[in-house]
Amino acid sequence: MSFSRRQWLQGMAALTAAALPASSFARWAEKAEKHTPVPDSDDYWKKVRAAFPLTDQLTYFNNGTMGPSPGRVLDKVKASMDKVDTFGEYLTNEAARPAIARLINAKVSEISLTHNTTEAINLAVWGVPLKRNDEVIITTHEHVGSAMPWLNRAKLDGIRLKTFEPARTAAENIDRISRLISRRTRVIAIPHIICTTGLVLPIKAVSEICRAKNIFLLVDGAHAPGAKNVDINSLGVDCYSSCCHKWMLAPKGTAFLYVREAMLDRLQAYHVGAYSDTGWDMTVQPPYFKGYVPTAHRYDYGTQNASLAEGVKEAVDFLEEIGLDKVEQRTHALALRLQNGLLETGKIELLSAEEEASRCMMIGFRVKGMDFKAFNEVAARNKFRIRIVPEANLNSLRVSTHIYNQEDEVDRFIEMVRKLA
Ligand SMILES: Cc1ncc(COP(=O)(O)O)c(C=O)c1O
Repeated sequence: MSFSRRQWLQGMAALTAAALPASSFARWAEKAEKHTPVPDSDDYWKKVRAAFPLTDQLTYFNNGTMGPSPGRVLDKVKASMDKVDTFGEYLTNEAARPAIARLINAKVSEISLTHNTTEAINLAVWGVPLKRNDEVIITTHEHVGSAMPWLNRAKLDGIRLKTFEPARTAAENIDRISRLISRRTRVIAIPHIICTTGLVLPIKAVSEICRAKNIFLLVDGAHAPGAKNVDINSLGVDCYSSCCHKWMLAPKGTAFLYVREAMLDRLQAYHVGAYSDTGWDMTVQPPYFKGYVPTAHRYDYGTQNASLAEGVKEAVDFLEEIGLDKVEQRTHALALRLQNGLLETGKIELLSAEEEASRCMMIGFRVKGMDFKAFNEVAARNKFRIRIVPEANLNSLRVSTHIYNQEDEVDRFIEMVRKLA
């Protein structure tokens, strides 16, 4: 592996010394005032790249599947694991909860820690109270991690799923959702960013519709936190499932479910254990438990990996030191450069949105006259790691850009497409 530990240590030290004031280690709430603007120079972003042990033997454009962690996150996890196994104290995973809450502007008490987005989605899908024939509005472009839990609930509980094909504008998506709402609609369950095409759905507008009609809004947010500056309060969702192992660049197998405070007693807790309760007794008749803890901790329980949680905190610190707005601008600017460059080649059919509100840091497209798998092989031969998109029979391609990517990587990809026969 070409990763040089010294290289990223030097890179990170230089980055910190050159661009990050000591105050950037302060709490996120204080940062808006204290954070000095981060330079936009290529040099700065090369130093950010050097903070990652990512190989330079390929260009990694698949953050939408998995986000590589910066070296300091890996170090934190390893040091913590050493501590756990040296002293036999398994610590707690509580480091992650406040870090995630800060990142999305939620209360710590609204965060439940899970192991992946799918687990968080399952908690929400089964937690929401539904009766036979109640209706759920959902897209035809769900990731399997959202499709399967809903299909399973439909199979076991007889609820009805009503689907819509996502459109490329916010206005059209609102229209398509509105046309599906009936007297029986209880839930709208949609992604924040669609995994197939990178289309951003107008969550805030949908939440206003939901509030007015007393409909639950459950959002699959696997793709936003860490690349978009998510303010969960302003989105107005009831539940938001996400992971830390994609855009947040945290250890793999870390994720969360946000549950709006007012929803806590409406979202049924089906899986409970240590830390879910406020007291229980099996020695009396009848055995009882007093109640659930007054936080989203009621949905997570038992022994967890404290070291991964420390890694989550470290990853959030890393992103905050750069600045969440800066991260959003950079990831989106790289994707826009890619989108425009690909369109200029005249060789692609764009599936992502062109309007600003509906596009982000993932681009979906097809290459005209070329099979998607064949194109993926060409990309792999040219040392680009991208993702094929067989979902929803799209047979298309997806490219993701994160802060470790560079403009010249984007330009080389465009050049490769331009040169296609
Ligand atoms: C939109 C979306 N939802 C859910 C998932 C499942 O995520 P996880 O593997 O963390 O369960 C993914 C994974 O790519 C996704 O893209």
